[in-house]
Amino acid sequence: MAQVLAKAGLDAVYSYAGRTANPVAQPLPTRIGGFGGAEGLADYLRAERISHVIDATHPFAGTISRNAVAACAAAGRPLIALERPPWVALPGDRWLHVPDYEAAASALPGDGSAVFLAIGRQNLKFFAGRDHAWMLRFAEVAAHPLRDATLIVSRGPFTVAGDMALMRRHAIAHVVAKNAGGHAAEAKLAAARALGLPVVMIDRPVLPLRRVAAMPAEVMAWLHGADRGV
Ligand SMILES: NC(=O)c1ccc[n+]([C@@H]2O[C@H](COP(=O)([O-])OP(=O)(O)OC[C@H]3O[C@@H](n4cnc5c(N)ncnc54)[C@H](OP(=O)(O)O)[C@@H]3O)[C@@H](O)[C@H]2O)c1
Repeated sequence: MAQVLAKAGLDAVYSYAGRTANPVAQPLPTRIGGFGGAEGLADYLRAERISHVIDATHPFAGTISRNAVAACAAAGRPLIALERPPWVALPGDRWLHVPDYEAAASALPGDGSAVFLAIGRQNLKFFAGRDHAWMLRFAEVAAHPLRDATLIVSRGPFTVAGDMALMRRHAIAHVVAKNAGGHAAEAKLAAARALGLPVVMIDRPVLPLRRVAAMPAEVMAWLHGADRGV
């Protein structure tokens, strides 16, 4: 999305939350850090004279997405969310759908088996009391609250063959994933399918009704007014 906006020469600013020490460079001016809730975001939109908001945050970043809906309503700015479709189970998949992190932790047997906990690093506390050998994969080295854990540091995109080898090497018995969608992280699901492993799939948070686009081109059409009033 940032590349498309930059290529079109639009005056846009890219906002990072500030969670990653070395974020990927963007072809747009970048700002880093929270806004101070929905009110802070509404103030920012007014102060910076932002005319349109594109919420291109991760599908599991529910707080900022809710704040964006509220802030745009308060400041009278149009909002669109760029959101890739969720993954859907294919034949051979053994997915157990759960609504949140807590339910995912409860769904595991707690029998000391090896679990590929592929949920990033922000919500590991929910799994801390469970008896498992955890395999974690982060984009950069970071502290975590889990006792018996092996940390793999890698940014992907990942391959099915690579993820199958990784899961075999660590004798993984269960995979926990959140339904992020997209291609960068879907190799683990194909690998689990090929190995016949069960996947605890955390479904996306429920968000307020908002306009959603699946592709940057749809966002550009909206910016240019092609589907206004539809
Ligand atoms: N959650 C995930 O699984 C995941 C995965 C990959 C990437 N990310 C990215 O990491 C960022 C943080 O994710 P999260 O799950 O912690 O978000 P979150 O729970 O929805 O948001 C928590 C707070 O972080 C700040 N924030 C979040 N995104 C921001 C942004 N793009 N620019 C400025 N402030 C932002 C906001 O602070 P204020 O209230 O102070 O404004 C927000 O209230 C998001 O931008 C998301 O796209 C998240």
